[in-house]
Amino acid sequence: MKPSNTFSRIGFVLATAGSAVGLGNVIRFPFVMGENGGGAFFLIYMISILIMGASVMLSEMLIGYKGQAGPASSFETLATKGNKFWKNIGWGISSFSNVIFSYYVILLAWIVAYVWLSATGGLPHDADHAESIFAVVRGDMTSTFLFGGIIFTLSFYVVAKGITNGIEKLNLVLMPAILLIFMGMLLYSFTLDGFDEALIFMFHVDFSKITVHIVIAAIGMSFFTLSLGTGIVLSYSASLPKGVNLVRSIGYIIVLDTSIAIVSGLMIFSFVFTYGGDPSAGFGLVFITLSTVFASMGVWGEVLGVAFFVALLFAGITSSVSMIEPMLKTVHRRFHISRGKAALYLAMPTALLSSAVVLSLGGYLGEGSLLDQLDYILSNVMLPFGAMMTTIFVGWFMHKSTVEGAVNNNLGHFFGLWYVIVKYIAPIALILVMFGLIGMI
Ligand code: TRP
Repeated sequence: MKPSNTFSRIGFVLATAGSAVGLGNVIRFPFVMGENGGGAFFLIYMISILIMGASVMLSEMLIGYKGQAGPASSFETLATKGNKFWKNIGWGISSFSNVIFSYYVILLAWIVAYVWLSATGGLPHDADHAESIFAVVRGDMTSTFLFGGIIFTLSFYVVAKGITNGIEKLNLVLMPAILLIFMGMLLYSFTLDGFDEALIFMFHVDFSKITVHIVIAAIGMSFFTLSLGTGIVLSYSASLPKGVNLVRSIGYIIVLDTSIAIVSGLMIFSFVFTYGGDPSAGFGLVFITLSTVFASMGVWGEVLGVAFFVALLFAGITSSVSMIEPMLKTVHRRFHISRGKAALYLAMPTALLSSAVVLSLGGYLGEGSLLDQLDYILSNVMLPFGAMMTTIFVGWFMHKSTVEGAVNNNLGHFFGLWYVIVKYIAPIALILVMFGLIGMI
């Protein structure tokens, strides 16, 4: 029997992989790869996941696992010095997650709209039409408030229910469904003429294409996709039962996350190369290119369209739920209030921010979209910052014996290497990535 309100091992792996697998894998990964020349980007992305991503993930897990609490309290209790400072860093990092949630939920509202369009035969038949539909979906405040509101409420509800009855249960259902749909779509892409071209585009490495810019984009993406730097992995790990092999769990999580990214890339590029379209079309790759392809395929397209957008929606929900947990756990534990009450208090400011994002998309808050601005700051500055602070903490502000005790059995001879990465290499690399992502390198 596991203690109440902790994850089972499989539940933990699926929930953390559920956080990792999200819109980033399906929408962002293919388009960032498209913009950055395919195979060369993919190679560096993989190396970065295996070295940097895995190392930072282990640091986050370790803090949660040892601290047994959300980011603020874990940092505070484990710090060898500067406890107050680290507590505040913990609060800050948790709040990043809620800010990401506030706009992520709006992307999910658009996806619900596309599920609806696919099911009712409303997908666009040509690129111009697709652009105008996408603009309508983005600017339609009524449907965004409605669909977004539903997903928002559902996500808070699930997290309020707790780990066992909420987060774990949700992931035990949705993750297998996502995997099943993606496997089906992969099988379908095998039959397309463009599949071979997609394979070459993704896996043929043209070393002359590797630039500093591509390296930075690939490292940045590897942190985003693993949901690192905002206390999510930390908070989930605080609800682990004793005696879990952290390193093995990371292996499973990375395999799941990377498989979904590869399958999404292969599928989307197979469609693009079969039916025409630009691999570097940005966000439009899914909402414009892919939706036009589905529309041109008749009834089959409707089925595929619904399956694809539903899988995307599920992937997004398991991520959005994870974004609420760090702050909710902190408020629940530190102020000794129930998870339900904590959810209520947290939902209010988050809803205000989400509403501001919707209003901005509707053209009410001046020029520029708040969504793009928030995403830019969070993905490029806050996330690398959070990840950097996590590694600095483990490398410099935790007793080496505590760190060693928690992971030595799992890491064996690799402990020394990992510790050097966490102490020196990762913090320096992360600060460089941060400057690179905002265009200063
Ligand atoms: N990893 C998720 C994705 O690929 C997004 C995500 C969830 C995330 N939680 C995060 C990104 C925390 C950064 C930080 O879509």
